[in-house]
Amino acid sequence: MSNSKKSITVLSGDGIGPEVVREALKVLLRVGKKYNIEFDLDFQAIGACAIEETGQPLPESTIESCLQSDAVLLGAIGDPKYDNDPSATVRPEQGLLALRKQLELFANIRPVKVYKSLVHHSPIKQEVIKDTDLVIYRELTGGIYFGEKVSTPTSASDLCEYHDYEIERICRLACEAALRRRKKICLVDKANVLESSRLWRKVFTSVAEQYDALEVEMLFVDNAAMQLIINPSRFDVIVTSNMFGDILSDEASVLSGSIGLLASSSIGKNTSLYEPVHGSFPQAAGKDKANPIATILSVQMLLEDLGLSEAANDIHEAVNAVIEQGYLTADLSKSQPRSCSEVGEAIANEVLKLRTNNFGVII
Ligand code: IPM
Ligand code: MN
Repeated sequence: MSNSKKSITVLSGDGIGPEVVREALKVLLRVGKKYNIEFDLDFQAIGACAIEETGQPLPESTIESCLQSDAVLLGAIGDPKYDNDPSATVRPEQGLLALRKQLELFANIRPVKVYKSLVHHSPIKQEVIKDTDLVIYRELTGGIYFGEKVSTPTSASDLCEYHDYEIERICRLACEAALRRRKKICLVDKANVLESSRLWRKVFTSVAEQYDALEVEMLFVDNAAMQLIINPSRFDVIVTSNMFGDILSDEASVLSGSIGLLASSSIGKNTSLYEPVHGSFPQAAGKDKANPIATILSVQMLLEDLGLSEAANDIHEAVNAVIEQGYLTADLSKSQPRSCSEVGEAIANEVLKLRTNNFGVII
């Protein structure tokens, strides 16, 4: 791989964010060294820590840096101080939502798969869970999250509005992904009740028709929620709106046994963002015990999207190796839990142990 340079805005955020990001950067810099890729890191604030520093959850300098970089790596945002205070007008979550809007991060991609050696950690029976390998494509910049909000002392409403182009671009991305996978795509909506879901069905159908090779399915969200538990392996690619995707991806995340394993990418018009699916886990903050794997796998997705697939593949293999060795944090190892930094270090070392590139050359 030739010498290249990539700029990354790093948003460590709140709670365990800084710890898991530190381990992910350790791994990133290790693959960078191996393949001669220079990463130019720009650390910026978001969330509760940004409110403390600047009074705003998403300072202007953070937006500027993100807009100029090749990719954004985010840890987590959120603080109990705000969760327990419904009257707070400035909140960490606003920073994340504003960032999604500003970068137009329209598609949130959340893969869920079950690792053989961890199958017993799933709350679902082994025979039901064992072949699960699915990915959720969640629309991220429209729908009820961003529609008009009205509130009076005695009533409140949130508008769920979608335009055809917003539905079309994510459906297309999801169909393309299904083509590269097991060629199954499932739209999840509530078209028996919601007008916006009926538009989703219409647009989705017209996009999916252009992909002859795909097996196409449409499910109502209540049924899909149930199917995810009783038969998760029937799914390949799921595409859905912002709110349904939020709920279903949390549901799906428990299938693998720990939310600490799940990575995500949010595809933007120009720059994309990569973050673990888990939140800021304030109870564990500063204790060096959070699972860094979700953030490390988010770095894998980042490298893949930047076209650095050898480096991405090394991370994938290194994570698999460490999982197979059972070298894991407390969420996945009760008997001999390792710390966040030990697991990060082990994965970074595995990356270096994978010494050959695709041409079999020792480097
Ligand atoms: C997520 C989170 C966010 C969301 C919150 C923190 C605003 O739950 O990324 O899924 O609801 O989208
Ligand atoms: Mn969520």
